[in-house]
Amino acid sequence: MSNKPTGFATRAIHAGQEPEPATGAVNVPIYASSTYVQEEIGKNKGYEYSRVSNPTRDRLETNLAALEGGVASKVFASGMAAINAVTSMLKSGDHVIAGHNLYGGTPRLFNQVLVNFGLTFTYVDTSNVKNVSRALQKNTRLVFLETPTNPLMELCDLREISDVSHRHGADVVVDNTFMSPYFQQPIELGADMVVHSTTKFLNGHSDGLGGVVVCTKVEQADKLAFLQKCAGAIMSPFECWLILRGVKTLAVRMEQHDRNGRKVAEYLAKHKKVQKVFYPGLSDHPQHKLAKKQMTGFGSMISFETGSLANANKMLRKVRVCSLAESLGGVETLISHPATMTHAAVGAEGRRKIGITDGMVRISVGIEDVEDILADLDQALAAI
Ligand SMILES: Cc1ncc(COP(=O)(O)O)c(C=O)c1O
Repeated sequence: MSNKPTGFATRAIHAGQEPEPATGAVNVPIYASSTYVQEEIGKNKGYEYSRVSNPTRDRLETNLAALEGGVASKVFASGMAAINAVTSMLKSGDHVIAGHNLYGGTPRLFNQVLVNFGLTFTYVDTSNVKNVSRALQKNTRLVFLETPTNPLMELCDLREISDVSHRHGADVVVDNTFMSPYFQQPIELGADMVVHSTTKFLNGHSDGLGGVVVCTKVEQADKLAFLQKCAGAIMSPFECWLILRGVKTLAVRMEQHDRNGRKVAEYLAKHKKVQKVFYPGLSDHPQHKLAKKQMTGFGSMISFETGSLANANKMLRKVRVCSLAESLGGVETLISHPATMTHAAVGAEGRRKIGITDGMVRISVGIEDVEDILADLDQALAAI
């Protein structure tokens, strides 16, 4: 690609995805090789062993850095492996501030694993920057954010929090899984690193697990490359290839997710059996203004309140076009129950504190014909 700045969709299709020099293949090959032949001791073509580096992985890392506007990225075996790598850059005694309603697996890692290694965590409602300021300590090294949060769809002001954290010498890490780089660019807003579960929108086809950390500094990428080599939680060449293929359609998929998401949110907001809808694209969302300022679309993640576990189960048993399943961001509409699925690990008391009820249902609106999704929800909600 030339050095001229290019649009998002062009970068998605071409950055790191240049034709393969040996054959001209337009798709990046899956380099299924654990090792690489060496001409003599210490002389090789830049690759020695695939835990350390792999040509397919290199291409994906170039691509994802270009999409998030970072200097480099490093990919891992899952979103959780990527988050674990970021926190492995810290030292015992370091303090982390984290949003109070992150994806449930993240506090599970923090509270049940990393506390045993001398890291401390404070959870705050990051929708108000003052809560972050108040929680900053001398040893705070990292502020870990999700916006919108999973599943309550609360936003935080990335610019404000980055400014406050940087003044204090803490780095800001944003889990941008829900919006994808297409709708939200945290680095432009001040973030130091961006993580994704690539399992979701970046891959987009619900067929592979992965995670990425996008860096703004070469030193961060060097540390993460060292962690790939030492700890080995790297993404396989096949999974890398799935994402390289998936991101080619990210722009068009996100546009369609967003169009369908808005229609489903409006439908749910008017439905008599639905008590509340959580979607930043609705004008009554408390942070609708911030959503319009910080994101270029609203995406397709929506949560809504059915009133009780029994009601949630009644409707979830009936869905046919929507699939009752964990995860999100695939082309197919996935519907889930946060209290027993993504946020089971948070515990009943933890869920009560942050407002995740037993009647809450989360939907990741896919790119099917929206009339079919609406008709499916209509017949399922009739069961309540
Ligand atoms: C926002 C968010 N971050 C991280 C993860 C973890 O990613 P993975 O399942 O790829 O480990 C998830 C998984 O659902 C998620 O929703």
